[in-house]
Amino acid sequence: MAKVLPYYAPGSLSAAYYDRITAADPTLVGDEQAYAGLAPPEGSILELGAGSGRLTAALAARGHDVLGVDISPVMLAQGHARLAALAPGIRARARLVRGDMTALDLKRTFDLVICPFFTLAHVPGGAAWRNTFATAARHLGHGGLAAFHLPKSGIMRLPGPPDASRPVLQLAIEDGRRLLLFVRERSFREDIGRLDQVIEYAIADAAGRVVRRSAERLTYWWTDPEPPAAAAGLTRDRDPIELGGVGEIRVFRKA
Ligand SMILES: C[S@@+](CC[C@H](N)C(=O)[O-])C[C@H]1O[C@@H](n2cnc3c(N)ncnc32)[C@H](O)[C@@H]1O
Repeated sequence: MAKVLPYYAPGSLSAAYYDRITAADPTLVGDEQAYAGLAPPEGSILELGAGSGRLTAALAARGHDVLGVDISPVMLAQGHARLAALAPGIRARARLVRGDMTALDLKRTFDLVICPFFTLAHVPGGAAWRNTFATAARHLGHGGLAAFHLPKSGIMRLPGPPDASRPVLQLAIEDGRRLLLFVRERSFREDIGRLDQVIEYAIADAAGRVVRRSAERLTYWWTDPEPPAAAAGLTRDRDPIELGGVGEIRVFRKA
């Protein structure tokens, strides 16, 4: 197999086609509305792991002031291009900066902190989760809300597809080409709550020939979010908001 890149790395197809893939992902339907419903009208939002600005731009278009933070320069480059294309009035409410959500201090507070689409699960379930909840708490005033979209724990334990040579997704892309996604490896370590996957992206031309491949490692971590949230002074605010059968938004309030 080709060299395995980290997800969102320079040259990765996960980053290059991130927007196409998320737009086709039924498990994300409703997340924008859910976050908008947690913020006061025109309220300020800090997005941890903002990626290519999918939600940063959408929430700014709904009237919120949104600051998105992400660690990946490749994702941020796409996000800056997205923001640059917005109408000036919306553009003025959206900003993206590079930063690490496990060690962030912007010296200001927001009405809502969000950590969408399994971003918390990208970092290990011990100190990194505690530090991310501390980041959320540091950027909220008393009574402020923090929303973390996490995979359901049972999803992490599912085996890979029965036939790893069959794509789990096919998308039409430019020039009659298709993007194919394969899950080549998938294993979960119960003792440390770690899911390792090797995802292979392939681009096939109109004649079906593979013209480019990118094998990428995607690791997710899962642990009960309530203890690290409580350690940061955040308590469960309401029942989880279900998303697409595989994930849920856990909402916490700063005391
Ligand atoms: C699944 S994407 C979510 C992007 C966007 N929020 C969305 O919903 O489309 C996860 C993002 O988290 C970012 N990320 C991972 N670890 C991070 C960290 N420690 N600090 C900031 N961003 C991080 C990745 O670079 C990636 O862009």
